[in-house]
Amino acid sequence: MRRIVFCSDYDDPRSWGEALERALGPIHYHVWPAVPARAPVDYALAFLPERGALARLPGLKVVFSLGAGVDGLADDATIPPAVPIVRMMDDGLVQGMTEYTVWSVLHAHRDMDDFARLQRARRWDHRDHLLAWERTVAVLGIGRIGGAAARALAALRFKVLGWSRTPRAIEGVECHHGADGLQAVLARAQIVVGLLPLTASTERLFDRRFFAQLPEGAHFINAGRGRQLVPDDLLAALDSGRLRGATLDVFPREPLPEDSPLWTDPRVIVTPHVAGMVMPRSAAAYVVAQIRSFEAGAALANLVERERGY
Ligand code: NDP
Ligand code: OXD
Repeated sequence: MRRIVFCSDYDDPRSWGEALERALGPIHYHVWPAVPARAPVDYALAFLPERGALARLPGLKVVFSLGAGVDGLADDATIPPAVPIVRMMDDGLVQGMTEYTVWSVLHAHRDMDDFARLQRARRWDHRDHLLAWERTVAVLGIGRIGGAAARALAALRFKVLGWSRTPRAIEGVECHHGADGLQAVLARAQIVVGLLPLTASTERLFDRRFFAQLPEGAHFINAGRGRQLVPDDLLAALDSGRLRGATLDVFPREPLPEDSPLWTDPRVIVTPHVAGMVMPRSAAAYVVAQIRSFEAGAALANLVERERGY
Protein backbone atom coordinates (compact mmCIF):
# COMPACT_ATOMS: atom_id res chain seq x y z
CA MET A 1 0.00 0.00 0.00
CA ARG A 2 1.31 3.47 -0.87
CA ARG A 3 2.46 5.65 2.04
CA ILE A 4 1.73 9.36 1.57
CA VAL A 5 2.71 12.18 3.93
CA PHE A 6 0.83 15.49 3.99
CA CYS A 7 2.85 18.49 5.04
CA SER A 8 1.06 21.86 4.87
CA ASP A 9 -0.50 24.32 7.29
CA TYR A 10 -2.37 26.05 4.45
CA ASP A 11 -4.34 23.11 3.09
CA ASP A 12 -6.94 20.77 4.57
CA PRO A 13 -5.35 17.35 5.27
CA ARG A 14 -8.71 15.60 5.62
CA SER A 15 -10.16 16.54 2.26
CA TRP A 16 -6.84 15.74 0.59
CA GLY A 17 -6.71 12.32 2.27
CA GLU A 18 -10.30 11.55 1.25
CA ALA A 19 -9.75 12.69 -2.34
CA LEU A 20 -6.56 10.60 -2.65
CA GLU A 21 -8.22 7.48 -1.20
CA ARG A 22 -11.21 7.87 -3.51
CA ALA A 23 -8.90 7.84 -6.50
CA LEU A 24 -6.13 5.47 -5.37
CA GLY A 25 -7.90 3.12 -2.97
CA PRO A 26 -6.58 2.50 0.56
CA ILE A 27 -3.33 4.31 1.41
CA HIS A 28 -1.21 4.81 4.52
CA TYR A 29 -1.80 8.53 5.06
CA HIS A 30 0.04 10.61 7.66
CA VAL A 31 -0.16 14.29 8.48
CA TRP A 32 3.16 15.84 9.43
CA PRO A 33 4.56 15.68 12.12
CA ALA A 34 2.63 12.49 13.07
CA VAL A 35 4.67 10.20 10.85
CA PRO A 36 5.86 6.77 12.06
CA ALA A 37 9.64 6.69 12.38
CA ARG A 38 11.53 4.65 9.79
CA ALA A 39 8.44 3.64 7.75
CA PRO A 40 9.35 4.08 4.08
CA VAL A 41 7.37 6.87 2.43
CA ASP A 42 6.40 6.96 -1.25
CA TYR A 43 5.12 10.47 -1.75
CA ALA A 44 4.87 13.78 0.09
CA LEU A 45 2.34 16.53 -0.58
CA ALA A 46 3.82 19.76 0.72
CA PHE A 47 3.36 23.52 0.89
CA LEU A 48 5.86 25.66 2.80
CA PRO A 49 6.89 22.69 4.97
CA GLU A 50 9.08 23.02 8.01
CA ARG A 51 12.66 23.14 6.66
CA GLY A 52 14.26 19.69 6.87
CA ALA A 53 10.93 17.88 7.36
CA LEU A 54 10.94 16.11 4.00
CA ALA A 55 14.55 15.01 4.41
CA ARG A 56 13.35 12.96 7.38
CA LEU A 57 11.05 10.78 5.25
CA PRO A 58 12.99 7.60 4.36
CA GLY A 59 12.72 6.37 0.78
CA LEU A 60 10.74 9.41 -0.40
CA LYS A 61 10.23 9.09 -4.17
CA VAL A 62 8.50 12.31 -5.23
CA VAL A 63 7.45 15.60 -3.61
CA PHE A 64 4.23 17.07 -4.95
CA SER A 65 4.04 20.78 -4.24
CA LEU A 66 0.58 21.82 -3.11
CA GLY A 67 1.30 25.24 -4.60
CA ALA A 68 2.35 26.68 -7.92
CA GLY A 69 4.93 28.54 -5.85
CA VAL A 70 7.71 26.22 -4.71
CA ASP A 71 9.60 28.50 -2.34
CA GLY A 72 10.31 26.45 0.77
CA LEU A 73 10.87 23.41 -1.47
CA ALA A 74 13.16 24.49 -4.33
CA ASP A 75 15.47 26.22 -1.86
CA ASP A 76 15.46 23.48 0.80
CA ALA A 77 18.89 21.93 0.32
CA THR A 78 18.04 19.15 2.78
CA ILE A 79 15.70 17.55 0.19
CA PRO A 80 17.99 15.06 -1.61
CA PRO A 81 18.69 16.29 -5.18
CA ALA A 82 17.58 12.91 -6.55
CA VAL A 83 14.04 13.44 -5.22
CA PRO A 84 11.99 15.19 -7.93
CA ILE A 85 9.70 18.07 -6.94
CA VAL A 86 6.55 18.45 -9.03
CA ARG A 87 4.86 21.84 -9.29
CA MET A 88 1.09 22.24 -8.83
CA MET A 89 -0.50 22.96 -12.24
CA ASP A 90 -4.19 22.75 -11.55
CA ASP A 91 -6.58 24.53 -13.91
CA GLY A 92 -8.72 25.61 -10.93
CA LEU A 93 -5.72 27.43 -9.46
CA VAL A 94 -4.98 29.26 -12.71
CA GLN A 95 -8.67 30.20 -13.01
CA GLY A 96 -8.76 31.55 -9.43
CA MET A 97 -5.63 33.63 -9.98
CA THR A 98 -7.02 34.98 -13.26
CA GLU A 99 -10.28 35.96 -11.56
CA TYR A 100 -8.40 37.72 -8.75
CA THR A 101 -6.21 39.61 -11.24
CA VAL A 102 -9.15 40.71 -13.38
CA TRP A 103 -11.15 41.76 -10.29
CA SER A 104 -8.29 43.75 -8.74
CA VAL A 105 -7.34 45.44 -12.00
CA LEU A 106 -10.96 46.42 -12.76
CA HIS A 107 -11.46 47.57 -9.16
CA ALA A 108 -8.45 49.91 -9.46
CA HIS A 109 -9.21 50.91 -13.05
CA ARG A 110 -12.76 52.04 -12.19
CA ASP A 111 -11.78 53.74 -8.87
CA MET A 112 -14.07 51.47 -6.88
CA ASP A 113 -12.41 52.41 -3.57
CA ASP A 114 -13.38 56.02 -4.17
CA PHE A 115 -16.98 55.06 -4.86
CA ALA A 116 -17.13 53.00 -1.67
CA ARG A 117 -15.96 56.07 0.28
CA LEU A 118 -18.43 58.32 -1.53
CA GLN A 119 -21.27 55.92 -0.72
CA ARG A 120 -20.39 56.01 2.98
CA ALA A 121 -20.49 59.83 2.79
CA ARG A 122 -23.83 59.74 0.83
CA ARG A 123 -22.19 61.68 -1.99
CA TRP A 124 -23.40 61.46 -5.60
CA ASP A 125 -20.19 62.24 -7.46
CA HIS A 126 -20.84 61.74 -11.15
CA ARG A 127 -17.61 61.56 -13.14
CA ASP A 128 -15.81 60.52 -16.29
CA HIS A 129 -13.54 57.48 -16.42
CA LEU A 130 -10.84 55.92 -18.58
CA LEU A 131 -11.69 52.99 -20.84
CA ALA A 132 -9.64 49.79 -20.76
CA TRP A 133 -7.84 50.61 -24.01
CA GLU A 134 -6.72 53.89 -22.45
CA ARG A 135 -5.12 52.07 -19.49
CA THR A 136 -1.75 50.29 -19.45
CA VAL A 137 -1.44 47.25 -17.17
CA ALA A 138 1.87 45.47 -16.55
CA VAL A 139 1.91 41.80 -15.59
CA LEU A 140 5.20 40.79 -13.97
CA GLY A 141 5.64 37.05 -14.44
CA ILE A 142 3.92 35.68 -17.55
CA GLY A 143 4.21 31.95 -16.95
CA ARG A 144 1.25 29.64 -16.47
CA ILE A 145 -0.65 32.03 -14.19
CA GLY A 146 0.62 35.43 -15.35
CA GLY A 147 0.20 34.36 -18.99
CA ALA A 148 -3.47 33.43 -18.41
CA ALA A 149 -4.08 36.67 -16.48
CA ALA A 150 -2.40 38.78 -19.19
CA ARG A 151 -4.55 37.14 -21.89
CA ALA A 152 -7.72 37.79 -19.87
CA LEU A 153 -6.78 41.47 -19.46
CA ALA A 154 -5.97 41.77 -23.16
CA ALA A 155 -9.38 40.24 -23.95
CA LEU A 156 -10.92 43.07 -21.89
CA ARG A 157 -8.99 45.44 -24.19
CA PHE A 158 -6.45 46.77 -21.68
CA LYS A 159 -3.02 47.68 -23.08
CA VAL A 160 -1.05 44.82 -21.52
CA LEU A 161 2.70 44.69 -20.97
CA GLY A 162 4.27 41.43 -19.80
CA TRP A 163 7.60 40.81 -18.12
CA SER A 164 9.55 37.57 -17.78
CA ARG A 165 13.11 36.36 -17.17
CA THR A 166 13.55 34.92 -20.68
CA PRO A 167 11.92 36.11 -23.93
CA ARG A 168 8.24 35.14 -24.28
CA ALA A 169 5.54 35.89 -26.85
CA ILE A 170 1.82 36.14 -26.03
CA GLU A 171 -0.71 37.37 -28.57
CA GLY A 172 -2.15 40.75 -27.59
CA VAL A 173 0.56 41.32 -24.95
CA GLU A 174 3.68 43.44 -25.44
CA CYS A 175 6.34 41.21 -23.88
CA HIS A 176 9.62 42.34 -22.31
CA HIS A 177 12.24 40.49 -20.31
CA GLY A 178 15.29 40.98 -18.14
CA ALA A 179 16.44 44.05 -16.22
CA ASP A 180 16.17 46.47 -19.19
CA GLY A 181 12.75 45.08 -19.98
CA LEU A 182 11.56 45.84 -16.46
CA GLN A 183 12.60 49.48 -16.76
CA ALA A 184 10.69 49.83 -20.03
CA VAL A 185 7.58 48.19 -18.54
CA LEU A 186 7.51 50.15 -15.27
CA ALA A 187 7.86 53.52 -16.99
CA ARG A 188 4.44 52.99 -18.61
CA ALA A 189 2.58 50.84 -16.08
CA GLN A 190 -0.49 52.56 -14.60
CA ILE A 191 -1.45 49.30 -12.89
CA VAL A 192 1.20 46.69 -12.01
CA VAL A 193 0.37 43.09 -11.15
CA GLY A 194 3.03 40.90 -9.49
CA LEU A 195 2.65 37.20 -10.35
CA LEU A 196 6.26 36.14 -9.89
CA PRO A 197 7.78 33.17 -8.05
CA LEU A 198 9.92 33.92 -5.03
CA THR A 199 13.58 33.42 -5.94
CA ALA A 200 16.88 35.05 -5.01
CA SER A 201 16.30 37.55 -7.86
CA THR A 202 12.72 38.47 -7.01
CA GLU A 203 13.07 38.72 -3.22
CA ARG A 204 12.58 42.39 -2.18
CA LEU A 205 12.14 43.36 -5.86
CA PHE A 206 9.24 45.69 -4.95
CA ASP A 207 11.28 48.31 -3.14
CA ARG A 208 11.83 52.07 -3.23
CA ARG A 209 13.74 51.89 -6.56
CA PHE A 210 10.99 49.82 -8.14
CA PHE A 211 8.16 52.15 -7.10
CA ALA A 212 10.18 55.22 -8.17
CA GLN A 213 10.11 53.97 -11.77
CA LEU A 214 6.30 53.94 -11.98
CA PRO A 215 4.23 56.82 -13.30
CA GLU A 216 2.70 59.07 -10.63
CA GLY A 217 -0.58 57.66 -9.23
CA ALA A 218 -0.02 54.01 -10.24
CA HIS A 219 -1.78 51.10 -8.53
CA PHE A 220 0.23 48.11 -7.27
CA ILE A 221 -1.16 44.56 -7.00
CA ASN A 222 0.80 41.62 -5.64
CA ALA A 223 -0.42 38.03 -5.63
CA GLY A 224 3.02 36.44 -6.17
CA ARG A 225 4.85 36.18 -2.87
CA GLY A 226 5.03 38.52 0.12
CA ARG A 227 8.78 38.47 0.50
CA GLN A 228 9.04 40.22 -2.86
CA LEU A 229 7.70 43.37 -1.17
CA VAL A 230 9.39 45.84 1.17
CA PRO A 231 6.29 47.09 3.06
CA ASP A 232 7.89 50.32 4.35
CA ASP A 233 8.83 51.26 0.78
CA LEU A 234 5.26 50.58 -0.34
CA LEU A 235 3.90 52.85 2.41
CA ALA A 236 6.43 55.57 1.47
CA ALA A 237 5.34 55.31 -2.19
CA LEU A 238 1.69 55.67 -1.10
CA ASP A 239 2.53 58.69 1.08
CA SER A 240 4.42 60.41 -1.74
CA GLY A 241 1.54 59.86 -4.19
CA ARG A 242 3.71 57.75 -6.49
CA LEU A 243 1.21 55.00 -5.72
CA ARG A 244 -2.50 55.69 -5.48
CA GLY A 245 -3.36 52.34 -3.98
CA ALA A 246 -2.31 48.75 -3.50
CA THR A 247 -4.03 45.36 -3.47
CA LEU A 248 -2.07 42.72 -1.58
CA ASP A 249 -2.80 39.02 -1.27
CA VAL A 250 0.60 37.93 0.03
CA PHE A 251 2.83 39.28 2.81
CA PRO A 252 6.37 38.85 4.11
CA ARG A 253 4.86 37.30 7.26
CA GLU A 254 1.65 35.28 7.05
CA PRO A 255 -0.80 35.56 8.67
CA LEU A 256 -0.27 39.33 8.41
CA PRO A 257 0.55 40.40 12.00
CA GLU A 258 -2.31 42.13 13.80
CA ASP A 259 -0.25 45.29 14.32
CA SER A 260 0.63 45.71 10.63
CA PRO A 261 -0.39 49.19 9.40
CA LEU A 262 -1.50 47.57 6.14
CA TRP A 263 -4.66 46.21 7.81
CA THR A 264 -6.14 49.67 8.36
CA ASP A 265 -4.57 51.78 5.61
CA PRO A 266 -7.52 53.03 3.50
CA ARG A 267 -5.34 52.97 0.37
CA VAL A 268 -4.60 49.25 0.73
CA ILE A 269 -6.81 46.22 0.12
CA VAL A 270 -5.68 43.16 2.08
CA THR A 271 -6.76 39.62 1.19
CA PRO A 272 -5.47 36.60 3.16
CA HIS A 273 -3.52 34.66 0.49
CA VAL A 274 -6.67 33.51 -1.26
CA ALA A 275 -6.10 34.76 -4.80
CA GLY A 276 -5.81 31.21 -6.04
CA MET A 277 -6.63 28.21 -3.88
CA VAL A 278 -5.43 24.69 -4.51
CA MET A 279 -8.62 22.75 -3.90
CA PRO A 280 -8.52 18.95 -3.72
CA ARG A 281 -11.80 18.64 -5.62
CA SER A 282 -9.91 19.69 -8.74
CA ALA A 283 -6.22 19.42 -7.82
CA ALA A 284 -6.19 15.84 -6.46
CA ALA A 285 -6.81 14.50 -9.97
CA TYR A 286 -3.60 16.21 -11.10
CA VAL A 287 -1.54 14.57 -8.32
CA VAL A 288 -3.14 11.16 -8.85
CA ALA A 289 -2.50 11.29 -12.62
CA GLN A 290 1.16 12.08 -11.94
CA ILE A 291 1.47 9.23 -9.41
CA ARG A 292 -0.02 6.80 -11.90
CA SER A 293 2.24 7.86 -14.75
CA PHE A 294 5.32 7.83 -12.47
CA GLU A 295 4.47 4.27 -11.38
CA ALA A 296 3.99 3.28 -15.02
CA GLY A 297 7.56 4.44 -15.68
CA ALA A 298 6.68 7.65 -17.55
CA ALA A 299 8.47 10.95 -16.97
CA LEU A 300 6.98 13.33 -14.41
CA ALA A 301 5.62 16.61 -15.80
CA ASN A 302 6.13 20.14 -14.49
CA LEU A 303 9.30 19.41 -12.57
CA VAL A 304 10.82 22.22 -10.51
CA GLU A 305 14.23 23.38 -11.69
CA ARG A 306 15.89 23.73 -8.33
CA GLU A 307 18.85 25.77 -9.55
CA ARG A 308 16.63 28.54 -10.99
CA GLY A 309 14.30 28.38 -7.97
CA TYR A 310 10.95 27.75 -9.70
P1 NDP B 1 5.54 29.96 -13.72
O1 NDP B 1 6.83 29.31 -13.33
O2 NDP B 1 4.69 29.31 -14.75
O3 NDP B 1 5.86 31.45 -14.24
C1 NDP B 1 6.74 32.27 -13.59
C2 NDP B 1 6.95 33.53 -14.42
O4 NDP B 1 7.81 34.41 -13.69
C3 NDP B 1 7.68 33.23 -15.73
O5 NDP B 1 7.21 34.07 -16.76
C4 NDP B 1 9.13 33.56 -15.39
O6 NDP B 1 9.94 33.91 -16.50
C5 NDP B 1 8.92 34.77 -14.50
N1 NDP B 1 10.11 35.02 -13.69
C6 NDP B 1 10.72 34.22 -12.79
N2 NDP B 1 11.81 34.82 -12.28
C7 NDP B 1 11.91 36.02 -12.90
C8 NDP B 1 12.85 37.07 -12.85
N3 NDP B 1 13.91 37.03 -12.03
N4 NDP B 1 12.64 38.14 -13.64
C9 NDP B 1 11.58 38.19 -14.48
N5 NDP B 1 10.65 37.22 -14.58
C10 NDP B 1 10.83 36.15 -13.80
O7 NDP B 1 4.74 30.20 -12.37
P2 NDP B 1 3.16 30.37 -12.18
O8 NDP B 1 2.69 31.33 -13.20
O9 NDP B 1 2.50 29.06 -12.11
O10 NDP B 1 3.09 31.00 -10.69
C11 NDP B 1 3.65 32.25 -10.41
C12 NDP B 1 3.64 32.51 -8.92
O11 NDP B 1 2.36 32.89 -8.47
C13 NDP B 1 3.99 31.31 -8.03
O12 NDP B 1 5.36 31.06 -8.01
C14 NDP B 1 3.47 31.78 -6.69
O13 NDP B 1 4.47 32.51 -6.03
C15 NDP B 1 2.32 32.70 -7.06
N6 NDP B 1 1.03 32.13 -6.66
C16 NDP B 1 0.28 32.77 -5.71
C17 NDP B 1 -0.95 32.30 -5.35
C18 NDP B 1 -1.82 33.05 -4.41
O14 NDP B 1 -2.85 32.53 -3.97
N7 NDP B 1 -1.50 34.28 -4.08
C19 NDP B 1 -1.51 31.08 -5.94
C20 NDP B 1 -0.66 30.50 -6.96
C21 NDP B 1 0.57 31.00 -7.27
P3 NDP B 1 10.24 32.84 -17.67
O15 NDP B 1 8.93 32.78 -18.44
O16 NDP B 1 11.32 33.46 -18.44
O17 NDP B 1 10.57 31.54 -16.99
C1 OXD C 1 0.52 28.73 -4.58
C2 OXD C 1 -0.20 29.48 -3.55
O1 OXD C 1 1.72 28.93 -4.75
O2 OXD C 1 -1.35 29.13 -3.23
O3 OXD C 1 -0.13 27.89 -5.24
O4 OXD C 1 0.34 30.47 -3.06
